[in-house]
Order: sequence, then structure tokens, then C-alpha cells
Amino acid sequence: MEITIRVNGQERTASVPPETTLLTMLRANLGLTGAKLGCDVGDCGACSVLVDGEPVNACLMLAAQAAGRDVLTIEGLGDFQELSPLQEMFELFSSFQCGFCAPGMIISAKALLDKTPNPTAAEVREALSGNLCRCTGYTKIIDAVMEMASRGAAESERA
Ligand code: FES
Ligand code: FES
Repeated sequence: MEITIRVNGQERTASVPPETTLLTMLRANLGLTGAKLGCDVGDCGACSVLVDGEPVNACLMLAAQAAGRDVLTIEGLGDFQELSPLQEMFELFSSFQCGFCAPGMIISAKALLDKTPNPTAAEVREALSGNLCRCTGYTKIIDAVMEMASRGAAESERA
């Protein structure tokens, strides 16, 4: 079947079998490999993307369910040449080691900050609880999100 999704602001179409997951369509058909295939059963969050602003596990969603909707992947934030401010903050804090969890973690952090610009540490932990990291103790990940929030709050106070 032919499916069209608005991915990172662009209409993208692929012809895929009906059982194709959103993650497979992104990675295999559209060449967007930022979202990772970890557990493939909704446990690890490595495949997190935003669909209409809500974080979802792309391994659990059919591509057909995303048809006509807005999907944001890590590629829609920034790249190595030009990181987004949120990505820069994670870099500043050296939040990651192997980096496998990073795209999903950053996408979940973005979803949180878009809705809750000044979260508590508990809210950050809760928002990232579906994103597993096997390398770090999460501390520098949480710290980066909290710092991003406090800088955002400072910006809006100045505005
Ligand atoms: S690969 Fe989707 S939740 Fe693990
Ligand atoms: S940095 Fe390796 S899984 Fe998170």
C-alpha cells in the first residue's frame, strides 16, 4: 500500500506492505535511521519519535496509522553540522556513552519541554522513563534536560 507521512516537515511517500511498522518505513524506506531498532516490542524507547507532537514507540505503530500525520524524528531537530539547542545541551553535559539511546531520549525530552517548559526533576524522570539507557546512570541526561529548562525559563523572562 502507498503511505504518505509528513516527516520532519516534508511529505514522504513509500509503497510498503500493510504490516509495515512506522519504524521500518522510516529506516528502510525513507532512509531515516536516527530512530533505532532496539527491543522491537515497546520496552526500550530507542525508536521514539513524535507523532502529532506525542512521543510514540515507532516499533509498535503501523506506518498506516501515521498516514497523513506529522512525524518528527531526531533528524528533524539537527545534525552534526548544526545541532539543535537541546542536542547541544546533551553534548555539553556528555550525557551519553554509546549513544544508542540518544535519539529516543532526546525526542522524549523535546516532547516534555514542548508541553512542560519548566519541569521538576521527577517530571523529567517520568517523561524519560520509557527510554532505557544501558550505559549511564541517567544523571547527566536528567541534568541536561533540567539545564535546558532553566535556560529556556531565563530566556522567556528576558523576552
Ligand atoms: S525498539 Fe521500539 S521500544 Fe524498543
Ligand atoms: S548511552 Fe549507551 S544506551 Fe544510553
